[in-house]
Amino acid sequence: MGSSTVVLIAVVVVLFLAGLFVFTTSARRDRASAVAKARQEARDEAASHVSHGESGPVVTGREVERAANLSRRGESLVIVAPGGAPPAPRAPMDPEALGVTRRQFFNRSIVGFFTLGLTGFGAASIGFLWPTLSGGFGAKIKAGKLDEILGEIRSKREPFYLAEARTWIAPYPSDAVGKASKAYNGAVLDGMKEGVVALYQKCVHLGCRVPYCKSAQWFECPCHGSKYNRVGEKKGGPAPRGLDRWGVEVSGGVLSIDTSKLIQGPPIGTNTTGQEAEGPHCA
Ligand code: FES
Repeated sequence: MGSSTVVLIAVVVVLFLAGLFVFTTSARRDRASAVAKARQEARDEAASHVSHGESGPVVTGREVERAANLSRRGESLVIVAPGGAPPAPRAPMDPEALGVTRRQFFNRSIVGFFTLGLTGFGAASIGFLWPTLSGGFGAKIKAGKLDEILGEIRSKREPFYLAEARTWIAPYPSDAVGKASKAYNGAVLDGMKEGVVALYQKCVHLGCRVPYCKSAQWFECPCHGSKYNRVGEKKGGPAPRGLDRWGVEVSGGVLSIDTSKLIQGPPIGTNTTGQEAEGPHCA
């Protein structure tokens, strides 16, 4: 599965979950507001019964006071309480209207943290894979004009380092192509026919970055001393094979390195150029 497909799937999943969250939240809010509205209507109706219901004589405070005075003196006064419907029972307070309950608070916190984590994960995944989509490491990278690159290699006496591809571009001798066609194939061999080889900078032993030793004209790993000749074939040390490499393509004189597919280095014993160390070793 291509990395762009993975990104697409990740984006779709994140969007789906975000949509689901918004939908369920709004549905809950609608339901809660409908319940609150119904309760409010019930309260209003009960209140209107009280205010517009059967009207009877109203007992005033003055009459109550008078009755109390008379009863203290041994006389009695009968007060007739107003008739009509009993007072409407008080409707319980609406928890939604009152505010957020503890359960709601925890539920919303969990959903919030979950959404936040999911969004962070989605953003991190997209950020991690973004260079692949925009043509960085993990995709085809244009290195520049082949003639200019080879010219720079000749003048500096060392392979051309392409940081964007984390790759050394080394020259491949034309008189070794015949031998190379028995050991290599595909886009690697095509590159050799064009006079270049693109070597991944990572040591195949334990992954250290391998620098070029200008005095020996070999790649020599400072970590455990693995050595590779100028075209990345293993010459010594604990490395289990030659340096891994990328397929290359030359179109209109421009060299491109395809860093989407790493090609394993040649097995121990492969020596197509016969190049020996040309001076003191660095590691
Ligand atoms: S990592 Fe390069 S020799 Fe061990």
